[in-house]
Amino acid sequence: MDREPSRNLALELVRVTEAAALAAGRFMGRGDKIAADRAAVEAMRLVLKSVSMDGVIVIGEGEKDEAPMLFNGERVGNGSPPQVDVAVDPIDGTRPLAFGRANAIATVALAPRGTMFNPGPFVYMNKIAVGPEAKGVINIETSVTENLKAIAAAKKKSVRDLTTVVLDRPRHEALIAEIREAGARIRLIPDGDVAGALMTAWPDSGIDVLLGIGGTPEGVLAACALRAMGGEIQGKLYARNEDELRRGEAMGYDFNKVLTMDDLVASDDVFFAATGITDGELLRGVKYFGGGAHTDSLVVRGLTGTVRRILATHRWEKLRKLSPIEY
Ligand code: FBP
Repeated sequence: MDREPSRNLALELVRVTEAAALAAGRFMGRGDKIAADRAAVEAMRLVLKSVSMDGVIVIGEGEKDEAPMLFNGERVGNGSPPQVDVAVDPIDGTRPLAFGRANAIATVALAPRGTMFNPGPFVYMNKIAVGPEAKGVINIETSVTENLKAIAAAKKKSVRDLTTVVLDRPRHEALIAEIREAGARIRLIPDGDVAGALMTAWPDSGIDVLLGIGGTPEGVLAACALRAMGGEIQGKLYARNEDELRRGEAMGYDFNKVLTMDDLVASDDVFFAATGITDGELLRGVKYFGGGAHTDSLVVRGLTGTVRRILATHRWEKLRKLSPIEY
């Protein structure tokens, strides 16, 4: 009770996501996903070095890309305590960014060492995510219809008042049919299910639940954010084919296991930050003016549950004297 307030690492992390967003924002609509990603990764990595932590990347740019930077297992931070696991997604929504569409964000999360789920090379996960009001009533093992009824009851509304968010993919045909049959509304998103999961816990978003198969790294990032914001996500690794299933099982992964909040991130001591790159429902995108830019970020700390919105103004003239990042 009489403890001194401790450090909020998320306030350092926001500089990391701001840098990634400022660098990536230049690539909006330019049709080059790779260049955008490289710019975001380089900026993020540079600022991560300055964060006071001894970090290991658990969710990084991924083994499958043989990423030269922010790869899984890379040490980040200045090496001082605390020891943490780090999850990064320098751009969630590289496609929307490259084609000038909405909802691209830069994100980072931290949790104590050993507490984040390591998905290995398995890139897809079936997910259900809700905000605080429906925490404790979802069950990925039961049908979508039953989940929708439970969420509606918890939120004291009817299923037809619910808005689901689903990635617009052919693999979701049956899911979409079931949601329609149950009577709930659907927001089909072209990309970006970290933002989709966050929206369930965002008071004015009008989104009640995220459903469907998306990236596993994005699932872990969403788990960190929702753990801090009081929501819930459950997942199940999804194998695209028999070969992937067998490879996973040989490595000790169980594709039938329900990954609960505790499996995805086993601590309340989590930090999450996100900055908008293109305009979205959650965050505004980077706005450039002569001599600088404005950013809009979200910063969440699990231990306190405090959610901060940070609007920042960045000035090139000063920044360029201090930083090699090409803004
Ligand atoms: P990236 O921009 O990081 O590639 O991810 C975009 C995204 O839409 C994620 O939000 C989502 O989890 C994943 O891709 C879905 O994968 P796919 O596009 O292969 O269906």
